[in-house]
Amino acid sequence: MANTMLLSLAEELDDLNVEFVSLQEKSKEYQKTLETLRTIEKSCMSMVTHQKKKYTQIGQTLKKHGKDLGLEDKPRWEELQRHVAEKQKVCVEIHESLPRPSEGFLKLTLGQVSVSLLSKSEKFDYKEEYERFKLYMTIILLVFSLATALFIDFRVCDALFHFLLVWYYCTLVIRESILRHNGSRIKGWWVLHHYLSVVLCGILLIWPASVSYEMFRNLFMAFSVYLNFLQLLQYYYQSGCLYRLRALGEKSDMYLTVEGFQEWMWRGLQFLLPFLMLGYIFQAYNAFVLFKLSFHPECNEWMVPASAIIFFILFLGNFFTTSKVMLSKFQAMQKKKSKKSL
Ligand code: COA
Repeated sequence: MANTMLLSLAEELDDLNVEFVSLQEKSKEYQKTLETLRTIEKSCMSMVTHQKKKYTQIGQTLKKHGKDLGLEDKPRWEELQRHVAEKQKVCVEIHESLPRPSEGFLKLTLGQVSVSLLSKSEKFDYKEEYERFKLYMTIILLVFSLATALFIDFRVCDALFHFLLVWYYCTLVIRESILRHNGSRIKGWWVLHHYLSVVLCGILLIWPASVSYEMFRNLFMAFSVYLNFLQLLQYYYQSGCLYRLRALGEKSDMYLTVEGFQEWMWRGLQFLLPFLMLGYIFQAYNAFVLFKLSFHPECNEWMVPASAIIFFILFLGNFFTTSKVMLSKFQAMQKKKSKKSL
């Protein structure tokens, strides 16, 4: 019996051995291709860096001497400028398609690891996943904040909620840094906004269960409910933009080729704006309440003025950044309309 078992196992091992030999060959082939790929990547990187540097230098020289040129040289000057701009655009695309080491905050947080997403489809997938993550977290936070605002009034539950917020904003900061590393145009303010939110929620987390905490708690929970409702609206706008961008495929040229997208985006922004402004007024109101609270005779915690300052900075940054975005989008729309009517 044992003999038959050993025989059948030996036969099976012989069969496996054939496959094992071809696996070793495939693995060698893979290592060799990988080495070739790394060599090509390196030479591509050094070539594109050199090209980018030269085009920047030529572009700067052209700009510097543009004013001194006579009328007859202008067409040639414009042609050269167009040529440089086109080449620079292609160089950026090539650079973004190569793996790059992390820098700054990402390097500090993740170490020397490449977080480059090399194809457009990978970038869209990552952004979609980021938006989905925000949606799921928003739903959880909305339910949590509603429950703590209406039914559960325990400091421990509040602390759990604040801890969840700290974790959530930390992950957003990392994900947004990865998105920016991969060419996303997320404004620096929104990343800073999330850093400040980490600090604010950290302060709320360590704020002792005191008179001042109790006086501010309900207002903060109401604000959280509104903020999460607002984030749901933002999700529908952002995922709508992403869906359209993906459908259009060529993201960078989209603004030039597709008019419908800009109109859809403008309608979405017009819908969103009153809700956003209400949120900013809420933030300013929180800052005002906390500021007043800091003069209360029973208020001894440093957390009160500190959170008042952060709420006020958030209000200012959000208000001015959103207004600037709206203004530039409105101007782009007007420009497009006037071009169309010509
Ligand atoms: N958080 C993260 N990413 C953001 C962002 C935000 N608040 N606002 C814009 N982005 C991203 C966009 O998705 C886009 O990414 P991409 O380059 O990868 O495609 C990039 O930044 C450029 O976006 P932009 O064209 O400047 O704006 P938009 O049309 O996408 O959005 C607003 C404009 C005003 C709707 C958006 O900035 C927003 O919702 N702001 C309000 C946020 C806020 O105030 N939150 C706190 C509420 S109290």
